[in-house]
This record gives sequence, structure tokens and C-alpha cells, in this order.
Amino acid sequence: MINSRESRAKTKISFTVNGEPKTVHAYPMERLLDVLRLELGLTGTKEGCGEGECGSCSVLMDGTLVNSCLVPVLQAEGSNVVTIEGLTAGETLHVLQETFLECGGAQCGICTPGMILAAFHLLNRKPEPTMEEIQEGLSGNLCRCTGYSQILDAVAEAASRGTTT
Ligand code: FES
Ligand code: FES
Repeated sequence: MINSRESRAKTKISFTVNGEPKTVHAYPMERLLDVLRLELGLTGTKEGCGEGECGSCSVLMDGTLVNSCLVPVLQAEGSNVVTIEGLTAGETLHVLQETFLECGGAQCGICTPGMILAAFHLLNRKPEPTMEEIQEGLSGNLCRCTGYSQILDAVAEAASRGTTT
């Protein structure tokens, strides 16, 4: 339990981000979203609603898809976080990033990192999902631009290429 005095003091918090150990000095209740973007410079993670409704800020924490706008950074202590930056290998895009580009699944781009991480999470569990399973897997992520069909096509296309990791 964090008392109010402790919650006002910055503390050292260590966790792994995209395979690299990181230590930040942050307020325990600071949002993981802000620490990723402002402390660690990982601006691929986007803020949409800031209220846990849109999924734009999705990251993987110990393999679970979480809304980083709702996660106090203290909760990330000792965890393994993956952001959209963690999916690329140097200059090489992940297959999901390629298919989102090819299928028009990214327009303004605010939802895109969260969508791709949700799709990545889905395909790791279900490499050959049905369209219904893709819809279900992305149901926590909202898009104002695309009408969703290009996004669903992009995920199906990535699944058909068979490489998700
Ligand atoms: S910004 Fe986190 S869910 Fe919308
Ligand atoms: S591409 Fe704009 S919100 Fe999805």
C-alpha cells in the first residue's frame, strides 16, 4: 500500500522494455504511458482517450495486453514490457506493420500501434484466427478513421503469411 507521502516522492523503478533493462525515477502513480513516452522516449505508444477506453496506448506487460494509461508505473516494477518499437528488428518492419501499410490499416496512426500490439498478442495465441476471432481480439481497440475493414484485412493477411514473432 502506498501512502500519500510516498506517492508524492519519486522512486527508482526498474523493468525491462523491449528486451533492455531500464531504470527510471518516477512518481509511483505516474502513468506507464507517460514514463514510456517522456522518460524513455518511446513515443510510438499513443494516447487517445486517456481513460482506458480506446486501446491506443496498448503495450504488452508480461505478455498481457494492457492500457498503459491505466497502469501506474510502480506496477511495472520487475516486469517485461513490449511497445510497438519492440516489434521491429532494426530497420525491418514486423509483418503486421507491413500488412497494415499494404492494406491501408493505418491512416491518422493514433490507433495503429495499439492495434498492431493487440493483433500481435492475438496471433501469438492463435496463429490462424478466424475473422470473428480477429474482431474479438481487436475489440478493445477503437479506430476513428478506417472503418475497421482494412485493419481486419491487415491482420488476416499477416496471419496468412505465417510469421508473427
Ligand atoms: S489512451 Fe489508454 S485506453 Fe485510450
Ligand atoms: S487510423 Fe486514425 S484512429 Fe485509427
